[in-house]
Amino acid sequence: MEVKRIHLQSHGDERGALVSIEQNKNIPFKIKRVYYIYDTQKSVVRGLHAHKELKQVAIALKGSCKFILDDGNERAEVLLDSPSSGLLIDSCIWREMHDFTDDCVLLVIASEHYDEDDYIRDYTQFKKVVANYANK
Ligand code: TYD
Repeated sequence: MEVKRIHLQSHGDERGALVSIEQNKNIPFKIKRVYYIYDTQKSVVRGLHAHKELKQVAIALKGSCKFILDDGNERAEVLLDSPSSGLLIDSCIWREMHDFTDDCVLLVIASEHYDEDDYIRDYTQFKKVVANYANK
């Protein structure tokens, strides 16, 4: 599957670096929520779900982790290891995150407020939803 990365321009000078995040500019949607994941224990797998509508951009602000993205037909593995690289996770994409380094801080920018009803937590159900979309 096609992996959509977003290059986030880093404004660096002798003092250090700065990255700016702006809705409908470098983030391709209106930002309604931001959360971050840190102190993730070794060998933990997070995610294991898809969303019906939600779009997200994930950025490893510190350290690194790996994403598996699955569009129902193909899987891709992506290493996130740079604060200037965003990963766009579209709606209806199954995601699993693993191999978090001890220092990993994963920032996630989301297009909607938290809504449990938007989750698809069962992989078989996810495959059915994807098949339904394909038939439309
Ligand atoms: P969870 O969905 O298990 O995280 P992950 O997808 O990374 O495995 O979320 C962990 C807990 O945090 C769960 O109790 C729901 C809660 N939560 C919120 O309250 N708001 C949020 O925006 C998110 C993403 C999770």
